[in-house]
Amino acid sequence: MINRLLSPSEARRARAEAAGKPAVALPPAALREVENLALGLFSPIEGVQGPLAIDHILTKMRLPSGLPWTNPIVLDVAPAVADGLVPGSVVALTDEVGRLAGRLYLEEVFEHDRAALAHGIYGTLDPAHPGVAATLARQPAFVAGKVELIEPLADSFARFNLTPAETRFLFKERGFRTVVAFQTRNPMHRAHEYIQKCALEIADGLLLHPLVGETRSEDIPAEVRLACYETMLEHYFPLERTILSVFPVNMRYAGPREAIFHALIRKNYGCTHFIVGRDHAGVGNFYGPKAAWEIFEAFEPYELGIAPLFFEHTFYCRGCEGMASEKTCPHGAEE
Ligand code: ADX
Repeated sequence: MINRLLSPSEARRARAEAAGKPAVALPPAALREVENLALGLFSPIEGVQGPLAIDHILTKMRLPSGLPWTNPIVLDVAPAVADGLVPGSVVALTDEVGRLAGRLYLEEVFEHDRAALAHGIYGTLDPAHPGVAATLARQPAFVAGKVELIEPLADSFARFNLTPAETRFLFKERGFRTVVAFQTRNPMHRAHEYIQKCALEIADGLLLHPLVGETRSEDIPAEVRLACYETMLEHYFPLERTILSVFPVNMRYAGPREAIFHALIRKNYGCTHFIVGRDHAGVGNFYGPKAAWEIFEAFEPYELGIAPLFFEHTFYCRGCEGMASEKTCPHGAEE
């Protein structure tokens, strides 16, 4: 697993080397991607990607090495910043107030057609799609190269933020041979509870893994959602089998491609199974309810290394007096 977090002595040296030299300031969402790369969430990827990798991912859903990967990890910079960058150099990366956060071993500075990027990831160019709008709004210049993190970023969810190395350790310590991960960007509702508990019937452990990276402003704030998950766990989940930890990745709203992306990252966290329900990571009506299942057919199970658990649309049925789906419920819509 990739680990590109500097040791305290390396970090001291990096700070001394960066002092007084030009640096590139990144917004919080971009810095988070740098941290995620360094902490191994995106293993085997070690840095922000260049045109060759992007092209492979968009056209083949694979890295140039052939391994499955569906969403490119890119870093855009303003053209004026790009003009001052020299491939082969080490670029200091700071936050918006100039604190050193990481380093980029710059390999390439390139332009990329943002419309082609958006269409490749989202399958549409409709600006009503939040992922398309965000991609079209990126800067036209991109940089590529391996990154390093000086120290973990200040994190308002630190209490819940286990790294992939930490969850792997925890699963081992608890003796879990199988762990199912649940991705969500919403407060937990009954369908969520139901599909997690169905999955927990067959797995040793459950990782409740709510996304706390960037989401649309319409989505419910992460702090509120975390309070909801804590309450659910306290009253309705077996704590010896359930782990709540945050998923600090920005939401892309890429539907099927994001389902694979989400699954591969959960494999890096040490999970063996991943829940994919109806319209996973979808938005509006851009993807069909089962598109996020069908995309798994493009890969052999051994290539992904994590097994998807597919769940139909589930609902509460008065006739069944419980949660059900079309697979398990004989009643009509009136119930
Ligand atoms: S997502 O963008 O993180 O996928 P959400 O938080 O709504 O959105 O869903 C979390 C997971 O639960 C996804 O796998 C989704 O497919 C699944 N899901 C949500 N609601 C239902 C439902 N009623 N029936 C089955 N699966 C569902």
